[in-house]
Amino acid sequence: MVSADTPDWSREQRSGWDPGRALLASIRAYQRTPTSRARRSLAVIRHRFWSAVSGADIPLTTQIGGGLLLPHPNGIVIHPDAVIGPNCLIFQQVTLGTNGKGVPRIDGHVDIGAGAKLLGPIHVAAHAKIGANAVVTCDVPAGATAVGIPARIILSSD
Ligand SMILES: CC(C)(COP(=O)(O)OP(=O)(O)OC[C@H]1O[C@@H](n2cnc3c(N)ncnc32)[C@H](O)[C@@H]1OP(=O)(O)O)[C@@H](O)C(=O)NCCC(=O)NCCS
Repeated sequence: MVSADTPDWSREQRSGWDPGRALLASIRAYQRTPTSRARRSLAVIRHRFWSAVSGADIPLTTQIGGGLLLPHPNGIVIHPDAVIGPNCLIFQQVTLGTNGKGVPRIDGHVDIGAGAKLLGPIHVAAHAKIGANAVVTCDVPAGATAVGIPARIILSSD
């Protein structure tokens, strides 16, 4: 099983045309310390370019564990205060946002299906799965699968 604790950096290695990994690489470059002002400015320009290409809104300061996969980054929106653990997978059109009370905290190795919205100060525990188009406004236990609007926990076939 993929680790929920140890980042697998090979998941972020770019090959060819790869806007998701390119966008992520600009965030990694910005957050790398120590780094020079010039390198940080270059990272900002790269981030703006790949954000425009992908239509994703993932702030440069977002806390993201290593090994994140963004196979189709288009339309992903992440609140700057959201926290994402290692080795997660986020498909297109996902929102990690606020409901005015707080933002989601995502543990390691969580897969989030296309179009899912995770809203408010919720905790999604390790190895959980979020179904495509789910709207999640409650905590999701470790290893659980949440689907639907509002999301409910189902028994996964894995
Ligand atoms: C949530 C998910 C991980 C569940 O997969 P699974 O464990 O194999 O579950 P199953 O397909 O056996 O479905 C179990 C039940 O959940 C329902 N279900 C599955 N996915 C659902 C979804 N996204 N929304 C609502 N219900 C869903 C099924 O209809 C089934 O209901 P039933 O028991 O009443 O018949 C998967 O369906 C999913 O949505 N993955 C996201 C994939 C994705 O976004 N791909 C994008 C590729 S570009």
